[in-house]
Amino acid sequence: MDTVVASHEPVMVREVLEALRPGRGGVFVDCTLGLGGHTTALLEAGAARVIGIDRDATALGLARERLQGFGDRVSFVHDDYRAIGAAVRAAGATEVAGILADLGVSSMQLDAEGRGFSFRRDEPLDMRMDVRDEMSAAVFVADADEVELARVIFEYGEERYSRRIARAIVRARGEAPIETTGRLAAIVRRAIPNKGWQRIDPATRTFQAIRIHVNRELDRLDVFLLDAARRLAVGARLVVIAFHSLEDRVVKHTFRAMAADDAPWQVVTRRPLSPDDEECERNPRARSARLRVLERCA
Ligand SMILES: C[S@@+](CC[C@H](N)C(=O)[O-])C[C@H]1O[C@@H](n2cnc3c(N)ncnc32)[C@H](O)[C@@H]1O
Repeated sequence: MDTVVASHEPVMVREVLEALRPGRGGVFVDCTLGLGGHTTALLEAGAARVIGIDRDATALGLARERLQGFGDRVSFVHDDYRAIGAAVRAAGATEVAGILADLGVSSMQLDAEGRGFSFRRDEPLDMRMDVRDEMSAAVFVADADEVELARVIFEYGEERYSRRIARAIVRARGEAPIETTGRLAAIVRRAIPNKGWQRIDPATRTFQAIRIHVNRELDRLDVFLLDAARRLAVGARLVVIAFHSLEDRVVKHTFRAMAADDAPWQVVTRRPLSPDDEECERNPRARSARLRVLERCA
């Protein structure tokens, strides 16, 4: 049985509430329920109901416990947020008063034992948010050819030594399968030229890249944003929080394209909002958060 460190501090709660204005009531969708921090804030601030979606069954179970006190004001959907249309329909709604997507992984997922996201602990290499998915990180590292490994590590990790790392992975797996976070981290660290002290562990970028690939975090993100925006009632908003530049770039470009010409949407945030200094100090994970808002105006 996994030991779950059940904590995740929701980021930019004040900004989310200011943008979504749950005091007006109505049905909201939290596309990334996690441990339910944002949903709690929405319900306490007046949302009539929240449809909570998460692809991680463990997170959903914990959220269910935490949100018990709200009774049937919250419903739980174990699915990918790309299925938002079906989730909204199943809840009997056609349009919603606001939508939140707080992208990426939660601290709970990174810290929980047995999930294989982090190199800080040596354990089976997994990284799947939804354990029903076939491709774990170990499967990807075992099956992908060298070119594909290098592409993923370069594209999603922005890692300049991606080719060296891919070569080292292929060489190492020829000796024995790479099945643990510790072994993969050691292979990556050895493949990168030693530059003395570094601010982040040299394995960080490769682990991020493999996690993004395994969970298809950027696949059809643009399609999801458009689909979500179509569920908004007039005057309602879609709030997206991204944690790395690749993700934020997709949000920025998709919002811009959607707000062009006679479209029924407008971008509320000309520039992304960031957490204030006090929040960054209290919760260092918040530092890279970028929040963008789109409104349905017609
Ligand atoms: C940053 S956390 C959200 C934390 C949440 N806002 C809170 O206050 O606890 C991101 C969550 O989104 C979920 N997630 C990531 N990608 C998803 C997807 N494509 N579909 C559904 N859930 C997803 C993850 O499993 C994780 O629980």
